[in-house]
Amino acid sequence: MEVVILPDARSIGSLAADAIGALLQRNPDAVLGLATGSSPLAIYDELAARCAAGTMSFARARGFTLDEYVGLPADHPERYRTVIDTVFVNRVDFAPGAVQGPDGLAADIPAACAAYEAAIAAAGGVDLQILGIGTDGHIGFNEPGSSLASRTRIKTLTRQTRIDNARFFGDDLDAVPTHCLTQGLGTIMSARHIVLVAAGRGKAEAVHHMAEGAVTAMWPASILQHHPHVTVLLDGAAASRLQLIDYYREAYESKPPWQGI
Ligand code: GLP
Repeated sequence: MEVVILPDARSIGSLAADAIGALLQRNPDAVLGLATGSSPLAIYDELAARCAAGTMSFARARGFTLDEYVGLPADHPERYRTVIDTVFVNRVDFAPGAVQGPDGLAADIPAACAAYEAAIAAAGGVDLQILGIGTDGHIGFNEPGSSLASRTRIKTLTRQTRIDNARFFGDDLDAVPTHCLTQGLGTIMSARHIVLVAAGRGKAEAVHHMAEGAVTAMWPASILQHHPHVTVLLDGAAASRLQLIDYYREAYESKPPWQGI
């Protein structure tokens, strides 16, 4: 796991966009894993800017979102499908239908989850997965206690996650759905490169457990320690509880300039 500590969200967005740009140069048909949440917004802003400037194109790329609330109506503004369209997909040049997400309105949820896994596999798997992290260490919506080998399935949201996300529902906890569909930890681990972004002191404990704690279902993101290519992009506040912070800084500063993340 490579940990990179950067001054601000803009630098995080820029470095992640560099990695995505290099991937699209190598493989214009690349498959991206897309996360919602506030953390990746700087990445999407930078990608949209580069696309508008004509230096990057998603015309042949495909995307798969991580997770979705169960039961939110199709026109609900907080449906993750709507959110990802607004913050990213509609701002770049993806072909129609190139980005898919789990169907939180499916009548047969197990079948929808299996179909989603099959669609990712049929696309050849995810080349680069963008991730945020919850304050309880969840990735996607894999809450503490999730199987470390899980695939896409329905999950019950923890009270803490619903409290964290109530800000998107007018601070009304009762308006936050109780269930979601999420790619499993096993699904996420199948991506070839994982870029996790976190900012702010509220994420510092989760980031510490993810990178430096024991691998445990109690901190689901800690499974990423078993992945061969994870890049963690942090601001100083999110990095503030890391025991090896000086080492991470030295390692990144001494990297050859031609070597990307
Ligand atoms: C939600 C999403 C996660 C996201 C997390 C953190 O629970 N399901 O994918 O990583 O929130 O969000 P934020 O980046 O807004 O703190």
